[in-house]
Amino acid sequence: MSLTTIAVQQLSKTFDRHPVLQDVDFEIRQGERVALIGPSGSGKSTLMRHLVGLTRANRHHRCCVHVLGRDIQRGGKLVSASRVERCRTGYIFQQFNLAGRLSVMTNVLVGRLGRMPRWRALLGRFSAVERAMALRALKRVGLEDLAGQRANTLSGGQMQRVAIARALVQEAELILADEPIASLDPRSAQEVMEILKRINEEDGRTIVITLHQVEYARGYCQRAIALKQGRLYYDGPIAELTDARLQALYDNAGLNELYQPTTTPVKPATLHAAAG
Ligand SMILES: Nc1ncnc2c1ncn2[C@@H]1O[C@H](COP(=O)(O)OP(=O)(O)O)[C@@H](O)[C@H]1O
Ligand SMILES: [Mg+2]
Repeated sequence: MSLTTIAVQQLSKTFDRHPVLQDVDFEIRQGERVALIGPSGSGKSTLMRHLVGLTRANRHHRCCVHVLGRDIQRGGKLVSASRVERCRTGYIFQQFNLAGRLSVMTNVLVGRLGRMPRWRALLGRFSAVERAMALRALKRVGLEDLAGQRANTLSGGQMQRVAIARALVQEAELILADEPIASLDPRSAQEVMEILKRINEEDGRTIVITLHQVEYARGYCQRAIALKQGRLYYDGPIAELTDARLQALYDNAGLNELYQPTTTPVKPATLHAAAG
C-alpha cells in the first residue's frame, strides 16, 4: 500500500493576478481516504480541478501534477491522455451531474462509455455484461430497486449515490469528490460518506473528498490536508487536527461554516475555550 497515487509538486495558480494556490506540495498513496478541508475560497476546488487537468497551473519548471503513474501536467503544460487513462479517475460533484430525464440505470452506464469501443459508445449500445455491472454498482449504493426510474425523481442523496455508482462502473481507481455532501441533509450526507468509506475500504480505491464540514472529515477520513488562502496549512492524521489548529485554520472565516449540523454537534463555544 505504498504506491503513490497523487504527487503534487510546487503547484501555484494565479487567477487575474490573484494567487489562489501557492507552492502546494503533497503526496497521496494508494488506498488512502483523505479529506481536503479549508475555508470557502481557500482553493480546494481549484486544487481538485488541477488533478484532472481541468485547470492548468502557472508556468514553473518545477511544478508537476502526477496522478496514477502519469503526469497530468508539468511546468504549467497539460499532458494529453487517452480515454481509458481519463477513466481511471472519477469525479463527483456537489450538484451530482446526472441526466435528469434518463433512467438511473442509463446514468450509471454513462460511466462505462469511456471504456467501450467508440462505435458502441456512440450508439449507446450497452452489453448484458455492462448492464449487470451497473446493477451490481446500484446494489452497492442501495438503489437497485430504482434502476428504471428517471433520475430527476430522486432525492439529492439518492442522486449522489447514483453518481458514486457511475464512478464504480467507470472502474475509477481514484475518486475525487468535491463537496459531495454540501447540498444534502445530515442523514443523506452520512449515507453518502458511509458509502465512500466502504468503497475505499473494500476496494482499496483512493478517495479525496473536499468538505467544509470538519465533523464529517473527522468521522470518515483518516488524513486531512488543509488549505488556507491557497497554501498548505496542515497535512497529517485527522486525529491530530486539534480544535486549536482548526480555530486558526478557520480564523476570519466564521465558525458557523465550520460546524454544520451533524450527529455529534460541537458548540463553537467549546471550540473557543479549547483554542483559548
Ligand atoms: N476560473 C476562475 N477565475 C477566477 N477566479 C477563480 C476561478 N476559479 C476560482 N477562482 C477563485 O479562486 C479562489 C479559490 O476558489 P475555490 O478553489 O473554488 O475555493 P474553495 O473550493 O476552497 O471554496 C476564490 O477566490 C475564487 O474566487
Ligand atoms: Mg469548492
